[in-house]
Amino acid sequence: MRNYTSVCDYLATSRPSDPVICHRPHAARRSALYFQEKFPGDVLYAVKANPSPLIIGELYAAGIRSFDVASIAEITLLSGYPDVSLHCMHPVKHPNHIRRAYHEFGIRSFALDSSDELEKICQVTANATDLALHVRIAVDNSGSRIPLNGKFGVSLAEAPELLIAARLRADRLGVCFHVGSQAMRPQNFARALKWASRIIHKSGVILDYLNVGGGFPAAYPGIDSPPLDQYMNVIGQAFNDSLISKTCTLMCEPGRALVAESASMLINVILRKNRMLYINDGSYGSMFDAAHMQFSYPTRALRDGRINRKELESSFSFYGPTCDSIDYMPGPFLLPADMRAGDYIEIGQMGAYADTMRTNFNGFGVRNQICVADAPMLSKYKRVPHCNYDTLHSRTGIVADDNSTAQYLNND
Ligand SMILES: Cc1ncc(COP(=O)(O)O)c(C=O)c1O
Repeated sequence: MRNYTSVCDYLATSRPSDPVICHRPHAARRSALYFQEKFPGDVLYAVKANPSPLIIGELYAAGIRSFDVASIAEITLLSGYPDVSLHCMHPVKHPNHIRRAYHEFGIRSFALDSSDELEKICQVTANATDLALHVRIAVDNSGSRIPLNGKFGVSLAEAPELLIAARLRADRLGVCFHVGSQAMRPQNFARALKWASRIIHKSGVILDYLNVGGGFPAAYPGIDSPPLDQYMNVIGQAFNDSLISKTCTLMCEPGRALVAESASMLINVILRKNRMLYINDGSYGSMFDAAHMQFSYPTRALRDGRINRKELESSFSFYGPTCDSIDYMPGPFLLPADMRAGDYIEIGQMGAYADTMRTNFNGFGVRNQICVADAPMLSKYKRVPHCNYDTLHSRTGIVADDNSTAQYLNND
């Protein structure tokens, strides 16, 4: 993959007609360092958010050794790394997946939220005596942009019985939950921890792991989330206040917050109709969250290889390249009023749940990849002490340019 200082540097010699992922591995490294320093427990990376080998390699280089893997394909991605511990935290798994995970890849850590899944895991592993079983409980997801409690999680009323059953089959027992992705309320973690503590107390089991899941927010325009430090403090405090902290290890498994800043997309305008731009990427490409979750993203316009420095004063919506009307991203995306066909747009914060959602619908699955060294367009880390690139350079040798954010939006 070719390296460039910035997208402008790339556009000096290229005029791509397919979308281009602009990886910023240094941003993934920065967030990994932050989480390992500030989270009061073990940090797993939820691979689903961005399974790019480049990003996984960067997180590994930054010290991440534990990964939440949802499929055999994700397990295979990690299988070449030494000293990693893999956790199948998806609570509903195909028996063949469990079989291969346990017997072929040596995975011992599995989540479940029902007695049938518990039986399945035990049966497929021939009643293994070395299992780490994590019971997923349903918790309050209110205020999270993408609630995840509809599909998974045993109810608080049923949880004690399942916990007791799992304790009898597990070498190590855990409780896990997810407060929903892009969780806007740190207190939801504290409340979930309190519920978990109550259930554990009621069931009388000794717990080895408490996993607070993902949900930590990334920076997006118009979605003002509290600083990450607040989440860390609230979780640390709630965990220390609970009785379970005496016996068990605290874990988290962020996806979005670790990698959202690690890529932008460079896309091309194909046609303009009033405030609608027809572009070469869309909801079947990397813009699932923009289409279906109404996420907005930071944007900047490029013309003739240079940044169009006119005011970002006009709101645009996007149509993607396929024939489907739902290939529509409402935005609003702020861009100069004189946008026209042929212009490029760099869309920031596209490192999480973006390229991994790409399909080949209508044959538009092709995209190019480059690496760029400039700073992400928005950041939750830049103003954290020890996390600006100047400090990181002296501590870790990361080479990236924080000053370049001057030309970007700066509302972190
Ligand atoms: C089991 C599990 N863990 C972690 C995550 C990562 O969540 P987030 O990207 O919100 O941090 C998810 C997301 O769906 C998940 O299902």
